[in-house]
Parts: sequence; C-alpha cells; structure tokens
Amino acid sequence: MANYEYLAEIEKYGRDNKIPILLDESLDYITSLLSRIKPYRVLEIGTAIGFSAISFSKYLAEGGRIDTIEIESLRVEQALQNIEKVGVQDKIRVLEGDALDILPYLTEEYDVVFIDAAKGKYNEFFEHALRLCKKGGTIIADNVLYKGMVMSDYNKHKQRTAVTKLRTFIDSVLENPNLDAKLLEIGDGLIVAKVK
Ligand SMILES: C[S@@+](CC[C@H](N)C(=O)[O-])C[C@H]1O[C@@H](n2cnc3c(N)ncnc32)[C@H](O)[C@@H]1O
Repeated sequence: MANYEYLAEIEKYGRDNKIPILLDESLDYITSLLSRIKPYRVLEIGTAIGFSAISFSKYLAEGGRIDTIEIESLRVEQALQNIEKVGVQDKIRVLEGDALDILPYLTEEYDVVFIDAAKGKYNEFFEHALRLCKKGGTIIADNVLYKGMVMSDYNKHKQRTAVTKLRTFIDSVLENPNLDAKLLEIGDGLIVAKVK
C-alpha cells in the first residue's frame, strides 16, 4: 500500500536543499488535470528526487505507470529511495541517462508527457513528446517563462541563450496547427498542449 504521507518530507528535503522541484501552484494545476485525465501512461523528462512523479502516481488509472528520466545518478538514487519509501515502485520506472539519448528508444504511446529538465533542450524534448504522445493526449512543459525572463526584455544575461530558445519553443508550440496549446502564467510558466 502506498503511503503518500512521506511526500511532505520529500518536498521539504527538496526545498531545503534547493532542488528545483515543482512549485505548489504548478503541482496543484497539473494534479487537478491528471485527476480528470486519469492517465494510463505518463512520461516525465526530469525526475530530480521523484517528488513530481510520486505526486502524479496518485492519479494514474488502474495498472498505470510513469516512466521518468533523470541524468544525474545521485538524483536517480534519491528518487529510487523516495519511490520505495512511499511504496510506489510498481507505478514508477526511473530511466537513468540523458533524455536525448533515451527518448529515441521509447516506442510506447503516452497519455501525458511532462517536460521539466534542461531548458536549452526543450525544442528537442518536445519533438520526442510529439512522437510519443497519443492523439488526444496532453504535453505539459514547466518553467517556460524562466522566472519571468522570457516575457521581459531581459537580454544581457548569461542565460540569454536559454531565454531565446524558450521564446522560440513557446512560439513553435503555440503556432503548431496539430496542437491545442496554451501558455499559463502559473508558477514559473506552464505550456499545456493537447494533441489534436
Ligand atoms: C526541475 S528538475 C525536475 C523536478 C521534478 N520534475 C519535480 O518537480 O520533482 C530538472 C531535472 O532534470 C534533470 N535533467 C536536466 N537535463 C536532463 C537531461 N538532458 N536528461 C535527463 N534529465 C535531465 C536535472 O538533473 C534535474 O534533476
């Protein structure tokens, strides 16, 4: 039996240690969406310590599973420990490595794809999400407003490249005729795109 009471402890660890886990506002929005969708298969890019994947696992359909990808081995280890602590090993599969190396090998279709990793690679992640998300499925991308920098004229910054790439990313998603997409100013900015 899953014991979701440990989630508060995992969240506190993440916030205390400055691990960039989902903001409360974004988590609330996404979990309310998931509670309506009741997905069978979810793909997450960016596991960190497993906080979002464990939170999402509550809303899976019977027999459902989340595949989540993480590049840093220490985080993979922590995520696996947290998943075991909560008792959701049968619902979450952690894949270790660079998502851009792993994604080409995935062939299953997903009801929901959640992108929450390196901002400079969102365009590439999204290409894979489009291939892997089923018709009628939903692709969500977090942190697309990058602490407000994407919407502002914030230019002379070392993260300028990431900001420019995120702007291109947002435009390409919003203009894609195969998607019903919106940009929400929730948390650090969320893209929610339904595949037509
Ligand atoms: C914002 S955190 C994920 C937070 C997590 N989704 C949550 O809310 O609990 C982003 C994670 O993506 C990982 N990451 C960054 N680039 C990646 C890549 N190319 N492939 C896989 N993981 C990556 C980072 O190591 C980091 O742990």
